[in-house]
Amino acid sequence: MERRRFIALAAGLPALALVRPASARDIDLALTAAPRAAAPGTWAYNGTVPGPLIEAHEGDRLRILFRNRLPQASTIHWHGLAIPEAQDGSPFHPVAPGADRIYEFTLPEGSAGTYWYHPHVHGTTEEQVARGLLGMLVVHPHHDPLEGLADVPLVISDPLLVNGARRPRLAIAPGETQRWRILNASASRYFRLSLQGRPFTLAGTDGGLLAAPLEGLTEHLLAPAERIEILVASREAAGGSVALQALPYDAGTMGMMGGGMMGGMGMGMGRRTPPGPIDLLELRTVPGPFEARTPPRAYRAIEPLARARDASRFVLTGGMMMSGFAINGRTFDMARIDAESRVGEVQRWVIENASPMDHPFHLHGTQFQVLSAPVLAWKDTVNVRPGQSVTIAFRHDHPGRWMYHCHILAHEDAGMMGVLRVS
Ligand code: C2O
Ligand code: CU
Ligand code: CU
Repeated sequence: MERRRFIALAAGLPALALVRPASARDIDLALTAAPRAAAPGTWAYNGTVPGPLIEAHEGDRLRILFRNRLPQASTIHWHGLAIPEAQDGSPFHPVAPGADRIYEFTLPEGSAGTYWYHPHVHGTTEEQVARGLLGMLVVHPHHDPLEGLADVPLVISDPLLVNGARRPRLAIAPGETQRWRILNASASRYFRLSLQGRPFTLAGTDGGLLAAPLEGLTEHLLAPAERIEILVASREAAGGSVALQALPYDAGTMGMMGGGMMGGMGMGMGRRTPPGPIDLLELRTVPGPFEARTPPRAYRAIEPLARARDASRFVLTGGMMMSGFAINGRTFDMARIDAESRVGEVQRWVIENASPMDHPFHLHGTQFQVLSAPVLAWKDTVNVRPGQSVTIAFRHDHPGRWMYHCHILAHEDAGMMGVLRVS
């Protein structure tokens, strides 16, 4: 099988280190988490922030040797993937400082999409991610409806870096359409993305492509941990440029733009909405070769999950003076089971935000559908605004204990997390 390569690596954008598959079906790689001598205070996987870009196909078996060379316990969590619980890298399976472990799992059929990996030890997740431990994992399908388009991975991390660089420049040829995979890997920031008003097309969400493209967007809010795939067409004459920007967004008194590294420490007191748009990346139109191709009108079938009869309620609170971050009034307790499900059962959850700030709600080990969303899509993280209720439906294929939590990592570390037991 042809292994595709991200061409962004040749387009003037700082490259993620691509981890090349060792064989056709098995991928053996090693990720070492360690402090970076070159940049004191930062930590990295294999010395780079973001960590290596892992690229594989549905059905591939990944074997990853994890070496923890940090001064504290860590894990690697494979955010968004439906894999066995023992491989999930959740707080239930910490790896001691100096220790090694192997993660081994098969990428499920139908899982093609943009995922990411990061540490997940209770109480220190924010610190570890904000210091630089994060990376993208792309699962390709056997037949990609968007085959042939430039496939550009964009990892936005603290403090406002794209693929580890400040305001990098990307090239697009006149008449070209590119596919961008954008990951918000920051510990607490919201990115209200725009291309200075130029329209773009939403092609995919956390769990892969939509059923069909959603055209004519001029902005899209990307909450912490969310991913999107968008199609960007060149609209400028050669020599022209347009910026990918983060527009001001008010995520509540404490949910927004942190002040530098570990911006969320101290519960994020003192965060502000930025005064104006911030340029994240410059897209410059430069004559060059590309494969002229009209993207298809339909991508794949997404079956709506069968309607579950009963719904469970999860109320998010916290953020007022003197009140901690909690779900249904309880803070995280590793020894407690907060919700139950069965393998194969469809559940419906209503997530209610009774706090004064946004919370991106994330569930491990599966993808869900947001029932009120305008289009059917697979998601693993959904933003819930103050006063809003969001209903999700999902099914788990693996038994075990799965976390659900707010992905503003300071909130998660403070206990805004629960455990779903699937039996
Ligand atoms: Cu991205 Cu529980 O995590
Ligand atoms: Cu996760
Ligand atoms: Cu939160």
